[in-house]
Amino acid sequence: VFTVAILVAAGRGERLGADRPKAFVVLAGRPMLEWSVAALSGQVDEIVVALPPGERAPAGTRGVPGGDTRSHSVANALAASAGDPVLVHDAARPLITPALVRRALDGLGDFDAAIAAAPVSDTIKEVRGDEVVRTLDRAALWAVQTPQVFRRAALAQALAGDLAGATDDAMLVERAGGRVRVIPFPRENLKVTTPVDREIAERLLC
Ligand code: CTP
Ligand code: MG
Repeated sequence: VFTVAILVAAGRGERLGADRPKAFVVLAGRPMLEWSVAALSGQVDEIVVALPPGERAPAGTRGVPGGDTRSHSVANALAASAGDPVLVHDAARPLITPALVRRALDGLGDFDAAIAAAPVSDTIKEVRGDEVVRTLDRAALWAVQTPQVFRRAALAQALAGDLAGATDDAMLVERAGGRVRVIPFPRENLKVTTPVDREIAERLLC
């Protein structure tokens, strides 16, 4: 088994609004993506990083150019490695730990994909315009994170289809009829999207 981790770091970080691409913003003393590299490095055989223009891959990783969308960045990185299984992680989730990476890898079993997720704690309503249509059954709702671990063939097949509107890779595997398992993860493995997320992440990392 040769496990590859794809670290997607090619986004611009428009909602964070920093002076550089989000993955390269310094958080608690390190560029954000370096936290994920540190968590991944002992658990996988190779790390391929999808990079924004003009940025270099961290030590011990291999860089590939990112794409126009997140899915295209994953596809570029997948093409650059023959590893199987394939773990995909967002550089925007710097609170990942080696133990959580291991938990995700161990969760694949005989599924096509295994994805980190936390039960939702908010009540979630479906709304049209400004009017509530219905309240969803919270017990059945999970907020999805990364890492997401895939059999290489399942991910390659999913990425060969229509990538439109995909906010994660597992969605593409689901569309292609694949079986996806949820692995319970802590909410602390948060994604840095806006300035308040950056503040919370920085406090948790210190
Ligand atoms: N990503 C990527 N290639 C893209 C778009 C996103 O590799 N073309 C990566 C980001 O670097 C991030 C992850 O996908 O690690 C999740 O995306 P998101 O949180 O949306 O990051 P950004 O796209 O950078 O932020 P924004 O949408 O606010 O511009
Ligand atoms: Mg984005």
